[in-house]
Amino acid sequence: MSTKKRKRPDGEATNDLIFSAHAGTNDEVFPYVLSLYVEPGSKVADVTYGKGVFWRRVPEDAYQLLASDLETGVDCRDLPYQDASVDCVVFDPPYMHTPGGTAHVNHQNYEGYYKNNQANSKKKYHEAVLDLYFTAAKEAWRVLREGGVYIVKCQDEVCANRQRLTHVEIINELEQFGFVTEDLFVVVRRGKPGVSRMLTQAHARKNHSYFLVFIKPKGRARWKGVKNRLVIETSHNGKVLPESSTNEGQLVFQFR
Ligand SMILES: C[S@@+](CC[C@H](N)C(=O)[O-])C[C@H]1O[C@@H](n2cnc3c(N)ncnc32)[C@H](O)[C@@H]1O
Repeated sequence: MSTKKRKRPDGEATNDLIFSAHAGTNDEVFPYVLSLYVEPGSKVADVTYGKGVFWRRVPEDAYQLLASDLETGVDCRDLPYQDASVDCVVFDPPYMHTPGGTAHVNHQNYEGYYKNNQANSKKKYHEAVLDLYFTAAKEAWRVLREGGVYIVKCQDEVCANRQRLTHVEIINELEQFGFVTEDLFVVVRRGKPGVSRMLTQAHARKNHSYFLVFIKPKGRARWKGVKNRLVIETSHNGKVLPESSTNEGQLVFQFR
């Protein structure tokens, strides 16, 4: 019989982990995505910065943030950055078309953002939404360095009574031109969204959206995680804080 001791596997048991599904808002979940995929100090281009909601809970000096938006004159399909010059691109376009009526009032609707015909696309409705995702991804690919991270926000939609799993359509297309799908975070809305005029409910009412994480691969190397992480502390003075805590010193983000 061998007297050799079995080698103890490295690492320790823990459930102090970043999870794939969260009930909350984008600004609550986005720091977790950054923490797992983007090293502090990285150059991050948020190409649909909008009001900067995603960044509300990220310390100002954590990243070199390059914020741009169509509203400030920069089209995500034609970025003013050199090839392979950015570590991470963040993309959160208007992600649904207007189906008519008031069913999606208060949602990010596509036609609302493009009322001045700035979309430059002959496509309509859901196809126009997809077209922007696909074209912007090509530009993100250009500006990302090898090994860089592409974070994409999206939501599925039922369009003309057809179920469109936008996140699947995006994944399929982006993989065609080389991106590796590395992760998927589900953001579930708190509370119950309604519709204004219900006759017969045909499909499940969507109350979730996604952060997709893609890598522009470096050769055949697989993703191994970041060395240095943005740490998210969810407790304060020994008290566990709910994710919904506002930023008055309650959710504390620190470097490890
Ligand atoms: C859902 S909002 C983004 C919200 C943002 N993530 C935040 O945290 O505030 C969508 C944004 O995409 C911008 N947008 C739409 N089309 C664009 C384009 N072609 N290039 C750049 N930005 C675009 C809109 O101006 C709008 O600010």
